[in-house]
Amino acid sequence: MMNKLIKYYIVVLFLIVLTGCNKANNAKPKEVVTPFNAQVDSLMALMTLQEKIGQTVMYSGGWSITGPTVSSDNKKYIKEGSVGAMLNVYSAKGTRELQKMAVEETRLGIPLLFGYDVIHGFRTIFPINLGLAASWDLNDIQKGARIAAEEASAEGIHWTFAPMVDIGRDPRWGRISEGAGEDVYLGSKIAKAYVKGFQGDDLSKHNTILACAKHFVGYGAAQAGRDYHTVNMGHDELRNVYLPPFEAAVDAGVETFMTAFNELNGVPATGNKFIFQDILRNEWKFNGFVVTDYTAINELVEHGFAENEKHATELAIKAGIDQDMMSSANRLYLEELINEGKVDVSLVNNACRKILLTKYKLGLFDDPYRYSDEKREKEVVYKAEFLEAARKSAAMSTVLLKNNKALPLNNKQTIALIGPLVKDKENIIGNWAAAGDRKGKAISIYQGIHEYLSASKIVYAKGCEIEDFDMSNFEKAINIAKKVDKVVMVLGEDYDMSGEAASRTNIKLPGRQTDLIRAIRKAVPNKQIVLVLMNGRPLDLSEEDNLVDAILETWFPGTSGGYGVADVLFGTYNPSGKLPVTFPRTVGQIPIYYNMKNTGRPIPPRNPKQDYKSNYIDVPNTPLYPFGHGLSYTNFEYSEVQLSATSIKFSDTLTVSAEITNIGDVDGYEIAQLYVHDKVGSITRPVKELKGFKKIYLKKGESQTVSFTLTVENLKFYNNHEFVTEPGEFEVAIKGTSDFDFKQTFTLN
Ligand code: GLC
Repeated sequence: MMNKLIKYYIVVLFLIVLTGCNKANNAKPKEVVTPFNAQVDSLMALMTLQEKIGQTVMYSGGWSITGPTVSSDNKKYIKEGSVGAMLNVYSAKGTRELQKMAVEETRLGIPLLFGYDVIHGFRTIFPINLGLAASWDLNDIQKGARIAAEEASAEGIHWTFAPMVDIGRDPRWGRISEGAGEDVYLGSKIAKAYVKGFQGDDLSKHNTILACAKHFVGYGAAQAGRDYHTVNMGHDELRNVYLPPFEAAVDAGVETFMTAFNELNGVPATGNKFIFQDILRNEWKFNGFVVTDYTAINELVEHGFAENEKHATELAIKAGIDQDMMSSANRLYLEELINEGKVDVSLVNNACRKILLTKYKLGLFDDPYRYSDEKREKEVVYKAEFLEAARKSAAMSTVLLKNNKALPLNNKQTIALIGPLVKDKENIIGNWAAAGDRKGKAISIYQGIHEYLSASKIVYAKGCEIEDFDMSNFEKAINIAKKVDKVVMVLGEDYDMSGEAASRTNIKLPGRQTDLIRAIRKAVPNKQIVLVLMNGRPLDLSEEDNLVDAILETWFPGTSGGYGVADVLFGTYNPSGKLPVTFPRTVGQIPIYYNMKNTGRPIPPRNPKQDYKSNYIDVPNTPLYPFGHGLSYTNFEYSEVQLSATSIKFSDTLTVSAEITNIGDVDGYEIAQLYVHDKVGSITRPVKELKGFKKIYLKKGESQTVSFTLTVENLKFYNNHEFVTEPGEFEVAIKGTSDFDFKQTFTLN
């Protein structure tokens, strides 16, 4: 039976040709036509208001991988044509079933969009995003997103609610795990890499998926690191720190945005015209569509910004929000608001248009089932090359925080493997692990080490749980520690101690894990102890730093995490990761990040105790491990920077170079970082800012000159009135960490 939609098109096409002929006689100048505008026009001409409103509605399925356990209500709304998108439904079979309902059981057969949180992998799970950021490897991050898109699109997913590009400077905030850390330059580069990885170069290809820049904006600045909490910030901070990664996503062509739950300076994001109209649409010319976060429209009532859900609906669509995730607000109130003249129908038409255009871009009107392909699903998911890529990402994401010659391990020594995360296959894939398997697919650290060391050389004891207070199993752990050459402890957090609604006031190792380290250290005072960490946030490791000989930060390293971490532990991969976020000495220092302001009473560098200076009386100002820090099994020596000039004009570019030498005895990668300090500004400027980085490979003894080109564009900042570069003196350096003192300057005239 001819699809109803085709029949309608023939009629409409005939009408277009007819009117087109008339138009041709008095042809207007050729307007720039967005691809598919004509098709959307003709389709919208057929749609009722309720059907247009339907496109602005998204409902959730049941997180089921065998098929949608969508509520009967939501199925009813789909059949009415009152739903434009579904989230949390995946698998070729499950999405095909629902798509069939939308395409074959509704009046116009408009296909659904299927969205899902594909944050750091879909089935093959990569390290959590904070870990991926620690690799500073943009190509690898993009490749991981591409692989995630390959797997997700094979199981019916058209759209991922990623990348999360919120700048995160507060380790108490659980969602710091999902972002790229504290730095605007690194975060902006990583945002682009994710968007390009997910969306590929052509959205009409069936292995590309829509990306979604979230959560717009300021979510990471929640007061006290408490999720969903109030956000207040000056315009300079908003413009110089929190907005740029989102603008970078727009520059990379991101197709969708998602609202943040928080209010920003008194106005909740989901009702905030300034950020969605003035900035996103008018300044950045974003022409994709905006979806709310989960039930965020209704939450405008709780915020005290809307009198009721109907008022919230009016505020959201007038702020420029196109689609309602799970509030039901648009479905329940938009028609009424239009009939009452409170909302102009053009707002619904614009929202509907943007959503339909996106569906056309994905090719869903050509073949609504092209992503729900069971054959492709079987071929693509968990491909060996994907698992191998995840292993490599895991190795590149690890950060060697400390090493007193305790690493790498060798296969001659016997080791005691101690800790609740040694054999873990559930937490290792971290939070927001999409359709990842927590029941056995992941490779544990134990399995990874087993690839390098025969069973005869490994003894294991769990020692304690992650977060309970039972110390009764310490004895067994202590006993095996006494019998071996070296102790390796795998400790950390539970995967759901970070992520959404998972803020912590205490950022130490949970439970009795630190007590266990203390007990082992006491039992074997002269034996080397290696601490391997799995965690979703910077932890306060001040005590552990004094108890162990090496600390390897693995974050949650993913499905192939055990292999990747073992590759680092045994030196197959020489660790190259650098911290994308500061590790404080104590939670009392938060917020603490590398590019803070100098204040009027700074402590002179390296001089922790001064009267009447901006410092604490009980703890130094410095972090335990700074942004950009990460050790290697070799050592890299940096020359002082060479400049192409020490004074430049606005029209000039400046080349900044340094020679880096591998002075150790193993080959390895190094991430060279370019920092500048704008010494004087019309508003105060950070003490240093990352303005470039390069990952280079140096064989032992090899030297390489690393060069960066600086332009006035790179030095721009928002001074509360406009984006400017101001003349004056700048300090500049190329280092392997943010922990250094500048020695070189140049002047911009
Ligand atoms: C959640 C998260 C958001 C996610 C959405 C859909 O509440 O805040 O990041 O994409 O709901 O799962």
